[in-house]
Amino acid sequence: MTSSSSMASAPLFLAVLLLPLGTSLAQLSTDFYSSSCPNVFDIIKPVVKSAISAERRIGASILRLFFHDCFVNGCDGSILLDDTPNFRGEKTAAPNNNSVRGFNIIDKIKTQVEKACPGVVSCADILAIAARDSVVILGGPDWNVKLGRRDSRTANFSAANTDIPPPTSNLSRLIANFSSQGLSVKDMVALSGGHTIGKARCTSFRGHIYNDTNINFRFAKTRQANCPRRVGSQDRNLAPLDQRSERVFNNDYFKNLVEHKGLLHSDQELFNNVPTDSRVQKYATSTTAFFADFVTGMIKMGDIKPLTASNGEIRNNCRKVN
Ligand code: HEM
Ligand SMILES: *[C@@H]1O[C@H](CO)[C@@H](O)[C@H](O)[C@H]1NC(C)=O
Ligand SMILES: *[C@@H]1O[C@H](CO)[C@@H](O)[C@H](O)[C@H]1NC(C)=O
Ligand SMILES: *[C@@H]1O[C@H](CO)[C@@H](O)[C@H](O)[C@H]1NC(C)=O
Ligand SMILES: *[C@@H]1O[C@H](CO)[C@@H](O)[C@H](O)[C@H]1NC(C)=O
Ligand SMILES: *[C@@H]1O[C@H](CO)[C@@H](O)[C@H](O)[C@H]1NC(C)=O
Repeated sequence: MTSSSSMASAPLFLAVLLLPLGTSLAQLSTDFYSSSCPNVFDIIKPVVKSAISAERRIGASILRLFFHDCFVNGCDGSILLDDTPNFRGEKTAAPNNNSVRGFNIIDKIKTQVEKACPGVVSCADILAIAARDSVVILGGPDWNVKLGRRDSRTANFSAANTDIPPPTSNLSRLIANFSSQGLSVKDMVALSGGHTIGKARCTSFRGHIYNDTNINFRFAKTRQANCPRRVGSQDRNLAPLDQRSERVFNNDYFKNLVEHKGLLHSDQELFNNVPTDSRVQKYATSTTAFFADFVTGMIKMGDIKPLTASNGEIRNNCRKVN
């Protein structure tokens, strides 16, 4: 008993030791705005809903924004900052340039939220809530979003280039890059299921449809019709990431992988005679299993290095620091 109680006090001792050094512990909570902005969810969801009614893909774009925010120095709204002549943000880093979208919807939400609760709700939290709402509206699982993140005063262009894995990634790179964020192989596979919605540009999947062998031949031919081998004017042509049902958040992404119809090289890496095959199979046959693990992954991803307490700020405008 004596040894177990002294063991139990060790983590507490370490936490107390580390706190003054700025290693703030994640202290997000689902009821963070319950008294300061009780209607925040009711304000955000209708804006997301009308944006998706106007353009269904925008839900996918908002989900991706959240991923690209969290993987670069944590979920701190850094991706939302615009470039200025003396500030280089993350928007033109390779994984983002000509590809991230949805900022105007985040602005619309922020305007509405500021009217109701001025200076209270961070842009990082708005993005977390809007990503959840997008998933739900498109038919995916629901969950309570942890809140209390604050917004960064900085962005990191080079970290955006190195921390977000490119679509050419092999399995070991995907595992390593998610692991750097504290996410497991299981989280990585489940979160990749985010590719059940949305689109990719020819430039993101050209290598896979022309050079790879672990791809269904007819599927490759179909995609090649709108994505020529030669680099050029058609680089931005789009194809659905989920060729079965791009408009609905479901487990079809995994069914595609089992048939070797993943659009990105990185997608098909998850099902390629590798240890992750069995998990892909499981999600392909069980929506329940996929949804449960996706939710776990989203909550873990949302916990990556948040700014809390007096760190960071609550931006007035998501595009610029106060
Ligand atoms: C596993 C590593 C991942 C890689 C290599 C990857 C890569 C990509 C690429 C290359 C695109 C297309 C970009 C373009 O051509 O414009 C894309 C789109 C997308 N990604 Fe990922 N992604 C990954 C993980 C994730 C995760 C974890 C999520 C969310 C949970 C996500 C959600 C999306 C969505 C929703 C789109 C479509 C966006 C739109 O239509 O605007 N991705 N991803
Ligand atoms: C982003 O894309 C634009 C348009 O293709 C290009 O001119 C610019 O050089 C790119 N920026 C970076 C930093 O690569
Ligand atoms: C930006 O990210 C790079 C690469 O991860 C890192 O080396 C650098 O220290 C970061 N810069 C700042 C100002 O945080
Ligand atoms: C995976 O890709 C990384 C670089 O992205 C490379 O260093 C490594 O050798 C590759 N691993 C395999 C097994 O191909
Ligand atoms: C991502 O993986 C690549 C290749 O394995 C590696 O060079 C890079 O440092 C990794 N980045 C992070 C943040 O883990
Ligand atoms: C396909 O492979 C060839 C030969 O290795 C290479 O030259 C070419 O750049 C690759 N194409 C794409 C789109 O990756």
